[in-house]
Amino acid sequence: LHRPALLGVRRRSPHADRAGRTLRLALCALRRGPAARRLHIHVGLLRIAIPKGRLQSDVLATFAAAGYDVPSETDLRTRKLVFHRAGIEWIFVKDCDVPVYVEHGAADAGVAGFDQILEHDCGAYQAVELPYGRCRMMLIGAPTAPRLSDRARIATKYPHITRNYLDERGLRAEIVPLGGSVELAAVLGLTSHVIDLVETGETVRVHRLVLQDLVAEITPRLIVAKNFYRTSNQRVRELIARIEEARNVMDSSSIA
Ligand code: PRP
Repeated sequence: LHRPALLGVRRRSPHADRAGRTLRLALCALRRGPAARRLHIHVGLLRIAIPKGRLQSDVLATFAAAGYDVPSETDLRTRKLVFHRAGIEWIFVKDCDVPVYVEHGAADAGVAGFDQILEHDCGAYQAVELPYGRCRMMLIGAPTAPRLSDRARIATKYPHITRNYLDERGLRAEIVPLGGSVELAAVLGLTSHVIDLVETGETVRVHRLVLQDLVAEITPRLIVAKNFYRTSNQRVRELIARIEEARNVMDSSSIA
C-alpha cells in the first residue's frame, strides 16, 4: 500500500480500474470506521505531541520559527488539549507521556527530554537535539551519605533508569519511586541518595546535598514514530529539515 506504483513498468490489466476502485472503497471504509479511530490511520493530518510544562513555550517557539502555525497563548488558555492548524494536529501531553504517544504511533512526532526517552525505553527515531532545557541527571547524596553501596536507598522519579544504573555497577540498592521534589527524601533521611535532574544546581546547593556522579546528559529532542518514519519519507524529511533549520537559527542567535 505504501509503495508508489511503478508507472510504465507493469502492464495495465483491463480490470485495473475496478481493482483500484475496490481498494479505494476499502480504504475509505477503513478511514471512517472504528479501526481508524483505534489505529490512527493517517488521512493527511500530521499529529505532533507537545510537552506541557517547562519546555512548552520553547518548543512552540521552535515550531513557529520553523514556519508552523502553532496554537496561540489564547488558544492554550481554553484548556483544550487538541488543536488543528494547517494540516497539523497539535496535542498537548505531560512531558513524561510524549515518548509513550510517539512509541505507540498515537502521535507521529513530538518533543521529549532524553530523560523521558530513556525512562520509557522509547525506540522512536531521535531526529534533532534542541538547544534549550539542557541539564544533567545526577546521583546526589545526602550531606553525610557514603558512596553508593548495596545498603543505599535511592529516591527518584526515574526507577527504570536507576535500576539500569545500579545493574551496570552490580549494586542491589533499594529504589524509592517518588513523584517530585525528590531531593527532599535525602534532606529528611528517607533515602541516602537521589537520582534527579540538576539544571542550575540551586536545589542541590540550598539543601546542602552533594553531587556524586553523572548519570546522563539530558537534552530535549524531536522524536519521530518509527512507522511514520518508514512510511512518510517526504513529510518526515520536511519536518526534520524545518526543525533543524529553526534550531540552527536559534543556536546562532544565542551565540550572537
Ligand atoms: C526539577 C528537578 C530538580 C530541580 C533542579 O524539578 O527534578 O528538583 O528541577 O533544578 P535546579 O538544579 O535548577 O535547582 P522540578 O522543578 O521540575 O519539579 P519536581 O521536582 O516536582 O519534578
